[in-house]
Amino acid sequence: MDILIRKELTEEYYKTEKVVKKAFLNEEYSDKKEHQLVNRIRKLDAFIPELSLLAIDQDNEIVGHILLSKITIVNDDKTVESLALAPVSVIPEHQKKGIGSQLIHAALKKAKEIGYHSVIVLGHKDFYPKFGFKQARLWNIQAPFDVPDEVFMAIELTENSLKNVQGVVHYSNAFSE
Ligand SMILES: CC(C)(COP(=O)(O)OP(=O)(O)OC[C@H]1O[C@@H](n2cnc3c(N)ncnc32)[C@H](O)[C@@H]1OP(=O)(O)O)[C@@H](O)C(=O)NCCC(=O)NCCS
Repeated sequence: MDILIRKELTEEYYKTEKVVKKAFLNEEYSDKKEHQLVNRIRKLDAFIPELSLLAIDQDNEIVGHILLSKITIVNDDKTVESLALAPVSVIPEHQKKGIGSQLIHAALKKAKEIGYHSVIVLGHKDFYPKFGFKQARLWNIQAPFDVPDEVFMAIELTENSLKNVQGVVHYSNAFSE
């Protein structure tokens, strides 16, 4: 499906959140509150407007959204900046048409362009490896909560950027409310 991917504008925040809510409506494991997560992230330092991207269809409607926000990976007194990919949303009637994949590719590209070196995701174990994500455990990067190894993944945006990085991921407060 032909879509345009571009940065979200401030005046689109509310519309985007409605799209996020709609995207998760049929998801069994979802708490149906992902749109509130997006809203909370926007209010924090963790928010990077350049990494809040929209998929726009030919009628100029928002059909998908992705957000990458700041996190840290902490090991004793060493803290490394990284990004969390969460959430990515495509409205149900346009899922499985490649839009989610395009949003992920675009967001990873942009994150690299603006100087980030890695991204962490908690998500479908068969979906994210298509973009190069691998189990975070390979670098000894752990989630701050109990989660199966295969769903907690990381990607290096620049070569060997996680080589000497290990520790526990610290999410922004938006994730714990
Ligand atoms: C998860 C989600 C973002 C993926 O977006 P999407 O646009 O449906 O994803 P894509 O179409 O790019 O890829 C999904 C599948 O469709 C396949 N696909 C891609 N392009 C396709 C096309 N043109 N025609 C048919 N299938 C296609 C992909 O290969 C992929 O296959 P898989 O099911 O074997 O992994 C979307 O389904 C969604 O919003 N789900 C609800 C919210 C959610 O769970 N978000 C993720 C957790 S944060």
